[in-house]
Amino acid sequence: MKVMIVRDYDEMSRRAAEIVKEQILKKPDTVLGLATGSTPLGMYKYLIEMHKNGEIDFSNVITFNLDEYIGLSPDHPQSYHYYMYENLFNHINIKKENIHIPNGVAEDLEEECKRYEREIRRIGRIDLQILGIGVNGHIGFNEPDESIETKTHIVTLTEETINANKRFFKSIEEVPRRAITMGLSSIMKARKIMLLASGSNKAKAIKETLKGRLTTKVPSTVLALHPDVTIIIDKGAASLLTDEELANVELTD
Ligand code: GLP
Repeated sequence: MKVMIVRDYDEMSRRAAEIVKEQILKKPDTVLGLATGSTPLGMYKYLIEMHKNGEIDFSNVITFNLDEYIGLSPDHPQSYHYYMYENLFNHINIKKENIHIPNGVAEDLEEECKRYEREIRRIGRIDLQILGIGVNGHIGFNEPDESIETKTHIVTLTEETINANKRFFKSIEEVPRRAITMGLSSIMKARKIMLLASGSNKAKAIKETLKGRLTTKVPSTVLALHPDVTIIIDKGAASLLTDEELANVELTD
């Protein structure tokens, strides 16, 4: 795994946006895997700016989002549909038909998971998968468990995740208990993966991820098996890493 330790959130966001830009310049019909949460917000701002400056054309880009809350309709301000349109899609020239996000209010949720999985297969493979990370090491909404389903599936969110995400809702009762998430198999099939983390609340999860010890109790540890992962972290997220752990990875700048 390549690890880039940067000064702060803004630098993480700028470097991440540069990598996305390079990818789209190299392959205009890039398939991007997109994440939500507070971490990629800065990167999306830079991407919008780059698009407005004429540096990136999204007209042939295809996107697949990692996850969506069950029970929140696309017009709910905390749904990931709403988030994506508000923070990226409304400001760039992506085609609506090229956007894919699981439907958290589908009548048949199991069928929706199968449909999403078929859509990913139809397009082939994700070229660049962007990931954030939960405080418990979840990626997408693949939560720690004894075993983890590998395809797109329905998950029950852990208390830790519900607590971490309550800041976006009026009260903890409003946080959905379930979500649809892309599985680890589509994430791991991506040609390239870029994981972003900022702040000391992510330091423990990053330390576990870089240990090189695979466990479903920390889903992000699976990334050690992928041939092309770049992790961009700021000083806070890197604060628990020892010299020994850093010696296991390729430091890059
Ligand atoms: C959320 C999302 C993840 C995200 C993670 C971290 O619940 N499902 O895709 O990476 O948790 O969120 P944040 O960036 O807000 O810390």
